[in-house]
Amino acid sequence: MLRRPRRNRKSAVVRNLVEETTLSVQDLIFPVFLIDGQNKAIEVQSMPGIYRYSADRLMDEIAACRDLGIKTFDVFPNIAEELKDKYATESLNPDGLYLRTLRQIRENFPDVCIMTDVALDPYSSDGHDGIVENGEILNDATLDVLGKMAVAQARAGADIIGPSDMMDGRVGFIREALDAEGFTNVSIMSYTAKYASGFYGPFRDALDSAPKFGDKKTYQMNPANKREALIEADLDYAEGADILMVKPALSYLDIIQLLNTNYDLPIAAYNVSGEYAMVKAAAQKGWLDNDRIMTEMLLSMKRAGAKIILTYFAKEYAQLIKNQ
Ligand code: PBG
Repeated sequence: MLRRPRRNRKSAVVRNLVEETTLSVQDLIFPVFLIDGQNKAIEVQSMPGIYRYSADRLMDEIAACRDLGIKTFDVFPNIAEELKDKYATESLNPDGLYLRTLRQIRENFPDVCIMTDVALDPYSSDGHDGIVENGEILNDATLDVLGKMAVAQARAGADIIGPSDMMDGRVGFIREALDAEGFTNVSIMSYTAKYASGFYGPFRDALDSAPKFGDKKTYQMNPANKREALIEADLDYAEGADILMVKPALSYLDIIQLLNTNYDLPIAAYNVSGEYAMVKAAAQKGWLDNDRIMTEMLLSMKRAGAKIILTYFAKEYAQLIKNQ
């Protein structure tokens, strides 16, 4: 045998030499959940180890994560039911929980990168990402709210805006709204290929944001479709997105690879709540090794072509690396 592939696996040093993909804490974004009140840390039942923090406790959590090398946080608010309405009005309240806390993060942590979420669902009495009329999710009327939300978040200190709503034309609309207010340096990480997925269940528990009727299939993509992701990516590219995201990650590695080969923008993968929950549940039962599975999953997303990974494992992974 002239070719013996095992020679390149013969020792840890050699294996490390030939290693093709590396995972760094710098690649990770930590999604965090915010809740009203003081000194609160309420664990999300379906996401062991992940908490909904009141603003004061969120500051402590960000400080702890920053010390571990995590520099970017994607903040999601849990909004009290009585503040929700058809038009997600609370999303624009400068003194509301979300915008107020973003300003506080900006003040306390000038070096941290703040990512924000643009979509109506956490504030919507219908639990949908857009305005609902007669059971239909309105596209163009929703854009107006999304544009205002993005500007309000930029004003509160956001560095990266994440439109997660999947309305047509929203990236361009938000880009223009930001530019018109002078926020030309605020980036857009578009949820480019966001699928109508069962993997979002635990997230909706965390935010109490499940749709009050129907599902999200008229705006989120069909899991059966791959070529359609190229249409979404073309539009987001043309409309000025800075980063293209695929979501969920694990069952959509082919989509990550597709976008990475076809576009020269950085690709992000959202390792979503259900993917986290599956690992935690199996690990709690002793059926899988949490650390190995976490590392292997994150590595697979990177190998498929994601430069950036949004993951609830961020802190845990950073702790694991630190102790190695
Ligand atoms: C909603 C939004 C969702 C997630 C991020 N933004 C859920 C949904 O579309 O219903 C899911 C994140 C996760 O599951 O971790 N705009």
